Amino acid sequence: MRELEERIRRDGVVRDGGVLKVDSFLNHQCDVALFDRMGAEWATLFKGKRVDRILTIESSGIGLACCAARHFGDVPVVFAKKAQSINLDDDLLTTTVYSFTKRREFPVIVSRRFLHQGDHVLLVDDFLANGRAMEGLIELCDKAGATVEGIAIAIEKGFQDGGGRLRRRGYDVRSLAIVTRMDAGTGTVEFA
Ligand code: G4P
Ligand code: NA
Ligand code: NA
Repeated sequence: MRELEERIRRDGVVRDGGVLKVDSFLNHQCDVALFDRMGAEWATLFKGKRVDRILTIESSGIGLACCAARHFGDVPVVFAKKAQSINLDDDLLTTTVYSFTKRREFPVIVSRRFLHQGDHVLLVDDFLANGRAMEGLIELCDKAGATVEGIAIAIEKGFQDGGGRLRRRGYDVRSLAIVTRMDAGTGTVEFA
């Protein structure tokens, strides 16, 4: 998506360690008009797929998922919660996700009330890096007996292996911007 690439070039800040800061429009302050156009773009990319609900993970995915839902027939948006501990509860679907940035595993939960057998689900998130968050959401869908129709990502870091692994598993991953190279020294960002 040209507009998103241009916005990343203009307002994104490349940090050491392959981190792209996009706080001014995506991760802290939100450009809702841009989110809406991103939602429209995903609706075009996933046209013809059945989507009953959108599943994301707190916190940065929520705003994007809500804007996207308006373009998928106002389906419900469900966000998986990052929990402190897993409490055994029949009502909860649970898994664990390893975070490379936080260097630890944390439990991720969704209530069975909001993710059901037979649901057709679109996964949404802001970043795709190592893919652990999306793998966790896939596991929650598997446990629910729901079908993952596609994975909608704002910014994929193509130099990390999450996107490749998910596509090799057969998932339909659509990223609006794929960063192939970034340089913290010069601040340059290159796209696929
Ligand atoms: P993974 O799910 O792809 O494996 O992600 P990873 O553990 O590598 O990253 C953990 C967190 O950092 C995720 O957000 C992810 O979206 C975010 N992230 C990864 N790379 C970048 C980056 O280059 N720039 C920015 N701004 N974020 C990045 P989170 O901490 O789980 O949650 P939240 O911020 O949504 O609350
Ligand atoms: Na995120
Ligand atoms: Na984030």
